[in-house]
Amino acid sequence: MAINERFLDELNARCDIVDIVSRYVSLKKSGSNYFGLCPFHNEKTASFSVAPDKQIYYCFGCGAGGGPIRFIMNVEGLEFQDAVRYLAKEYNMTVPESEGNPQVRHQRERTLELLKESARFFYAQLHSPIGAQALAYFQSRRLSKKTMNNFGLGFAPDSFHALLDAMTAKGYSKQELEQAGLIAKGKNGTYYDKFRNRVIFPIIDIRGDVIGFGGRVMDDSKPKYLNSPETAVFNKRRNLFAMNVAKKTKSEYFLLAEGYMDVIALHQAGFDCAVASLGTSLTDEQARLLSRHTKTVIVCYDADTAGQSASQRAIDILKKAGLRVKILRIPGAKDPDEFIKAKGPEAFRKLIERSDNDIRYRIETVRDKYDFTEDEQRILFLREAADIIAALESSVEQDVYTVSTAKLAGVTAAAFAQEVKQAQKRRTRQAKRQLHREVRAPAQAAQPKTRAIHYDNMKSARAEEGILSLLFADASLMEEMREYLKPQDFSSPELGKIYGYASALYNSGRNITVSALEGILEPAELELLVSAVQTQIPADTRHKAMEDYIRIISEQKLSRNSSADPEEDPLLRKAQMQRKSKGFDAGT
Ligand code: GTP
Ligand code: MN
Repeated sequence: MAINERFLDELNARCDIVDIVSRYVSLKKSGSNYFGLCPFHNEKTASFSVAPDKQIYYCFGCGAGGGPIRFIMNVEGLEFQDAVRYLAKEYNMTVPESEGNPQVRHQRERTLELLKESARFFYAQLHSPIGAQALAYFQSRRLSKKTMNNFGLGFAPDSFHALLDAMTAKGYSKQELEQAGLIAKGKNGTYYDKFRNRVIFPIIDIRGDVIGFGGRVMDDSKPKYLNSPETAVFNKRRNLFAMNVAKKTKSEYFLLAEGYMDVIALHQAGFDCAVASLGTSLTDEQARLLSRHTKTVIVCYDADTAGQSASQRAIDILKKAGLRVKILRIPGAKDPDEFIKAKGPEAFRKLIERSDNDIRYRIETVRDKYDFTEDEQRILFLREAADIIAALESSVEQDVYTVSTAKLAGVTAAAFAQEVKQAQKRRTRQAKRQLHREVRAPAQAAQPKTRAIHYDNMKSARAEEGILSLLFADASLMEEMREYLKPQDFSSPELGKIYGYASALYNSGRNITVSALEGILEPAELELLVSAVQTQIPADTRHKAMEDYIRIISEQKLSRNSSADPEEDPLLRKAQMQRKSKGFDAGT
């Protein structure tokens, strides 16, 4: 975020999106835009578009979209700043190195230093008499001294101020400790240590800096884990536990587990490629981070149902990042840690060798739902499996799974192949109908493609999208628009937020472009914006369109909040005026 805006504007002005995308996708011109096969999902028809006038790309199939920087981030698997450097190099520009303000930078360094000191403190406690019980706990979980040291494991004593005292003695202020997520303020206004009487797992980023902690109780009490909150240096979405070690692995694949203990047990057993997310489900950012270090990820989540449905989600996210995904089923144990403890590393290696790709896994997950002793259930299974197989792109793959699935259910491959063919026909019909619907009534293509965002008021949201598409086509409309329309008038908080940013760009005299917001918006918001600006509104109808959109937004706002006073609210006043003027003066 620290790269300066003027530089970004300059870079974006030099970037040519068609030129950049062409290096990865073969594009054909059609009208004013270019089309090609989407590099972010599998497809046979070209739904990936590039608009040189707006300097954006957008996939009508999967909804991926953004400007030059986002494209490079996604296709090269880079973080924002690195994508900027990458493009700057391409265009012979130098990123100003006095990045951000020196005070922020200094603070960040202090926080990292404080976290490192804290990790040292916890480590020392573990190996002092106070830590005897914690040490015994780790030993009971079969961790060797070497493993404990490799991961810098520690212990937070049963005290409300042990860390607080130790760190203030070293010159850190309470405010600094609070900002690092180490202490909190109680009701009576005094600070206390957050991590108490817990074994400590330092969370280390890929560069080797301690950025947070996980603390586990040593018995069955709740909550089992306490993790550092998000701070200026700790971003849970972007980091993976043990990535600092795993990045050096020689292994071709990475193992993705659920828990810290699983990862540690795996490393101890010789699998130095194991990582885990940080107490949240896997994110796109983490998948991209993985994709920079490997091509294949083997998911080895817990065997319980929660773990299995988490696997399903992880598969989708990993595949979206272009990774090959395999799934490990752990027989007779609840997680990798337990399995290794019971059966040993060699048995686990065998599991890895036999790990299935995700199609096989999906089919087997479906199989587990049905009771094969009943014919009807077997038929239901076959039908559901046929849907999965019909969705495969490669006919060789289809063939392979048709045969193995038929065998699984005890029917002939020929009979099941018929079922798959039927499923395929259903799919084609559905796709046609869907396309037809979208073409006939674009307004009903309804909810955003990005599943992370949901519109509560479809009618208003459509008009809000229209407002954005107007603004990004002609910024001068902002002048009039903002007299009536405030970000909080929007029914969709995401669209309102984008409107707010556009208004800020306008105020500071910058152009309202998608590129200018690439570093600010979340990926899902950026995709929403790019999809909204796909609507082309001819220049001579823009003013009229603006009035219509404002009217719709105000009506919808009023219907949401009928007690609002039109006299107090410029948007509602405008709507009233429009209604009146319509009565007196038709045609304007
Ligand atoms: P063990 O029970 O010691 O084997 O723990 P584990 O590391 O195997 O963890 P588990 O599979 O129970 O949970 C997976 C991950 O979810 C943990 O590593 C934590 O990051 C997170 N987690 C588990 N329980 C809690 C909790 O109570 N609170 C929070 N915030 N996170 C938790
Ligand atoms: Mn466990």
